[in-house]
Amino acid sequence: MKQRAQFATKIGVIATTVGSAVGLGNIWRFPYEAGTHGGGAFLMVYLMCVFIIGVPVLCAEFVMGRGTHKNVRGAFKQLHSSRLWHFCSYTGILASLMIISFYSVVAGWVLEYFFQAISGTLTDPTAASHASTRFSAFCSSTFRPVMWTVLFLAINHLIVSRGVQKGIERVSNTLMPMLAFILVALCINGVLLPGAAEGLTFFFLPDFSQITPSVILGAMGQAFFSLSLGLSCMLIYSSYFSDDVRLVRSATTIALLDTLVAVLAGVIVFSAVFSYGVQPEQGPKLVFEVFPSIFAEMPGGYVWAVLFFLLLFFASITSTISMSEISIAFFSEEYSMSRNKAAVISTTIAVVFGIICALSFGVLSDLTIFGMTVFSLFDFVSSNILLPVGGVMFSIFVGWFLDRTFLRNQLTNNGSVKVYTFKIIVFLMRFIAPTAIITIFIYGLI
Ligand code: PHE
Repeated sequence: MKQRAQFATKIGVIATTVGSAVGLGNIWRFPYEAGTHGGGAFLMVYLMCVFIIGVPVLCAEFVMGRGTHKNVRGAFKQLHSSRLWHFCSYTGILASLMIISFYSVVAGWVLEYFFQAISGTLTDPTAASHASTRFSAFCSSTFRPVMWTVLFLAINHLIVSRGVQKGIERVSNTLMPMLAFILVALCINGVLLPGAAEGLTFFFLPDFSQITPSVILGAMGQAFFSLSLGLSCMLIYSSYFSDDVRLVRSATTIALLDTLVAVLAGVIVFSAVFSYGVQPEQGPKLVFEVFPSIFAEMPGGYVWAVLFFLLLFFASITSTISMSEISIAFFSEEYSMSRNKAAVISTTIAVVFGIICALSFGVLSDLTIFGMTVFSLFDFVSSNILLPVGGVMFSIFVGWFLDRTFLRNQLTNNGSVKVYTFKIIVFLMRFIAPTAIITIFIYGLI
């Protein structure tokens, strides 16, 4: 048995978990989901999902991970004798492989934009005025999107096969605050754009007539995706926490910071969307169509663009590292493989499906299942089905099947911290989260 790694500092705990949570989910997926689901209505439901469902499920994963210092299967084995619970490990692994496949495609788009930013084409005013057509031409082409996807996965592979936890911790500590700084600057720039007010109204003012079951399902899926929840990613990270980390406080901090980044991204994107007269219901391409115009018109746009896409790349890689950890831990521990071999297997799967996802916008756009391209199908099935299913299982397991004293000891660090919210969290975990997820799930899918 190898010596288990542990995060070195309290800041490291927050930085790495926030590093996993903050990524393309906040800056790419959140704005486009909000755009297709009515803006303010989506935001409101999203916030409720994060704090009523997300935080308790996050606590449930933390209790299992930190309480056992094991991977997901090991944790279930230690905590309960029934094999039924092992099922939760499999949905998580499947989800992590699906997510990493389509996520790498978008991270590849980020790399393309980073190089366009360096060469100056991204912020060139004439090119930026055709940002939408240029982006569509790029993502429907064959070579470059595939090349970037594979390159991104190769970088990810190099990092995860070496298991550089220390490196991850250090990278997250410095780069995440920098990303936040740039987002704030972009936000100020955004609200000063002519016509931004309309965008802010769209984003912040809920139109209750827009709240449909599919909006609620989308918001819940987004909350799971953005908090890296329901696939045992946070469970694995928390198995590296030391015993004095405060779980409820950490979960709340992560949720707040993650939400803050998403809201900042929303402000930036919707100010620009309305200012430049773009349709908010674009879907996955939305952010990539508006960012070039933002940077082209912003003072010092060249530098901001280069920095922004570089940091977005880092934010993406800290997220994919955490996704890879799930399947690597599974393959290496279940089949007692070396970490390296396990990484090769999961990268190979991701490359194959990543290429298919990358081509979903071009040559494979006619390959549809249930009316969705492979890219959208992976996105939909993982976020809106597999992650909520995982969330229900974690909250029910920890809320109902776990020893009460164990749960209390974990949430209160053996009684040494007073967790005023203990009762609330347990109540949410036992009753509210599972019922809410199941109800949303059934209505949303029908
Ligand atoms: N939460 C990450 C993001 O918002 C994505 C992610 C999902 C990471 C699932 C790990 C596990 O970008």
